Amino acid sequence: MKLSDVLDLADLSVAARLFVSPLAEHPDLPERLAKMSLLFRGKEQKRDARLLAQAARNLAPEDFRIRVLTDWLNRRAAPLWHFKIIHDRLRNEAYARALTHFVKPGMTVFEIGTGTGILAMLAARAGAAHVYTCERRPEVAQAARDIIARNGLAERISVIAKDACAVQLGADIPERADLFVAEIVDNGLLGENVLALTELARAEFLRPDAILIPQRISTVGYLVSGRGHREAYYMDSTMGFDLTPFNRFAPLVISSGKGGGDVEPLSEAVELYGFDLHADAESAGALQVSLTANQSGVAEGVMRWLRLDFGAGILFENRPPQISSWEPLLHVLPSSRVVSAGDRVDIEVSHTRDQIFIS
Ligand SMILES: C[S@@+](CC[C@H](N)C(=O)[O-])C[C@H]1O[C@@H](n2cnc3c(N)ncnc32)[C@H](O)[C@@H]1O
Repeated sequence: MKLSDVLDLADLSVAARLFVSPLAEHPDLPERLAKMSLLFRGKEQKRDARLLAQAARNLAPEDFRIRVLTDWLNRRAAPLWHFKIIHDRLRNEAYARALTHFVKPGMTVFEIGTGTGILAMLAARAGAAHVYTCERRPEVAQAARDIIARNGLAERISVIAKDACAVQLGADIPERADLFVAEIVDNGLLGENVLALTELARAEFLRPDAILIPQRISTVGYLVSGRGHREAYYMDSTMGFDLTPFNRFAPLVISSGKGGGDVEPLSEAVELYGFDLHADAESAGALQVSLTANQSGVAEGVMRWLRLDFGAGILFENRPPQISSWEPLLHVLPSSRVVSAGDRVDIEVSHTRDQIFIS
């Protein structure tokens, strides 16, 4: 067997192709491909790494090390958090309630981000005539197809193994859809490009009056005493050495862990920033928000979490101490501050297209 029998070079990135093409005649091709796979894995080019390892395996199926390498890489084709989110009962139920409420028989649904296919299947179960769902990871898209077929829904759900930006109306989706559903929010709210992707869906794939699930997203938070979170991520003196210059690398935002239940709120929760997904969001914006302490303590940061508003009174919030697949974030204040009940702390909440900052 030669390289072209086991690998379509066009599937690789340009960089990987340039490295691999000259190897075609190498006497120890499987070993070389396996080494190249590890190199690309180290450079975070995971798809290249998987394709190269699989090619090595096809050439040398008996090679134990190559088999271990491909199994290891294939298991990493889907991020581990898929397991976490699928066990997030409150998240799943909120989406299920929204889909049951809004999907009417005969509607077509468009989704960005199939994952396991859970939301597409809920939409089909709610009565959608057809669901078109796109997934940018080809291995995940294939797993979703297998799941959908196993659940008898292959006739009513089309999985498009493409990034949303490459989906084509008229080819992948016959016509604009009546309803859009997506779960593309991260702990920080905007990091998975929910703003740009919802705008893309509205502009290209939805009817003007299409229903959006969710329709409004926001981040809510309060002032907190971190009970040592700050110390955990700052250096001072250790073993008699002053390590403070390392604090230039200290994080400004800490994923709180434990559902944020290990910090003490010092103010009421208020909405810090919200986005109505029916309208195009500004590319950047800033708001002044006042947080009024309702008890005394040492304010070390602002803890914030997500609120997804699906309409019809259906809401999801991972408000501490609620344990969810999404973790609240602790934004550390530049210096801790002693507050008493009634003290006002003014913060600026700003955002770009994919991040929220607090200062
Ligand atoms: C948080 S998961 C949600 C999966 C599933 N809908 C659920 O609710 O369990 C988001 C999914 O969207 C996919 N995704 C993110 N950005 C995408 C894009 N631009 N185009 C297509 N899929 C995308 C990710 O690969 C991931 O599978």
